Amino acid sequence: MDGNRRRKLTGLMEELGLDALLVADGCNMRYLTGFSGGTGYVYVGRERAVILTDSRYTTQAKEESGGLAVLEISREAGYPKLLGQLLSEDGGRTLGFEDGVMLYRDVAELQEKLAGIVFVPLGGRLDALRRIKTPEELEKIAEAERIGDQAFAHLLGVLRPGMTEMDVVVELESHMKRNGASGLSFETIAASGPHSAMPHAAPTMRRLAAGDFLTVDFGCVYDGYCSDMTRTVVIGKASGRQREIYETVLRAQEEALRAIRPGLTGAQVDEKARSVIGQAGYGAFFGHGLGHSVGLYIHEEPRLSPSETAVLEAGMTETVEPGIYIPDFGGVRIEDLVAVTEDGCRNLTFSPKELIEIR
Ligand code: GLY
Ligand code: MN
Ligand code: MN
Repeated sequence: MDGNRRRKLTGLMEELGLDALLVADGCNMRYLTGFSGGTGYVYVGRERAVILTDSRYTTQAKEESGGLAVLEISREAGYPKLLGQLLSEDGGRTLGFEDGVMLYRDVAELQEKLAGIVFVPLGGRLDALRRIKTPEELEKIAEAERIGDQAFAHLLGVLRPGMTEMDVVVELESHMKRNGASGLSFETIAASGPHSAMPHAAPTMRRLAAGDFLTVDFGCVYDGYCSDMTRTVVIGKASGRQREIYETVLRAQEEALRAIRPGLTGAQVDEKARSVIGQAGYGAFFGHGLGHSVGLYIHEEPRLSPSETAVLEAGMTETVEPGIYIPDFGGVRIEDLVAVTEDGCRNLTFSPKELIEIR
């Protein structure tokens, strides 16, 4: 286990008075050990860490973790028994567990079979270890975003009236997968015409027609790390109203991008964009938060939202994605992904943002 990450875990265990931790979240397991199989647990004692998994993953766990001990469950010895043995060998009495991740029935079974062990819910304390990204993690996120930029450039070359929303999805996804993506960060959104008023519309067989907004929101996974970006274009010539809405969203995004720096809360950055949209008279049509962090998961903490009290620090990532959604008319969202630096932020998204009309 990486020394830095081990020190963070030891500090957390000391702070919470724990003898051991049980890591259940797949991304937390990967972050702490390298094991990317996502099945099983990582037991962390004061002196050792052990991966518990099943026979499908034993070899992978050994290879990816650089030689951590791996215990394989069997019919005779399932997770509760193996965990009980580890705690007993280490003299462990207090065990932190991921209450936001484990199933109630699995926790109940462990509590029943491990009598005498005190279970301490960790809340999001393990996830919080991942908030500040290392330079290596940031490069993976930047590469994932670069693959997205290339897919958008490809889309602009093939986009035509008459294509369906699903055609658009296929163009973006296949381009990302042919150019280094191992998968998608989330189901690709391509929302046209009135559908674009739904921030998370599912793609349909609707055909693009002149006068439509088309919003594409997509991202891929590169070496475990996610990307996320959104662009909105107009099919045919933009109307005056479309142009006004687009320019308002873009100004809101630019205000927020200019503001981002360490020391501001997520709520303060959100307000920068929200006030631009509010002053333009569209406040009621921007219902979601301004952004979220991105890493091994597509949605991570801290958020940029009216209720986010966490303070930005260098090394965090954030999306900046204001939108205006007018029912029965259409909507615009523009989303970039940035890394917070010592004195501002570095934008990882390079796709153009001037209003594009597809003729
Ligand atoms: N569609 C996911 C997001 O932008 O957060
Ligand atoms: Mn997105
Ligand atoms: Mn996003």
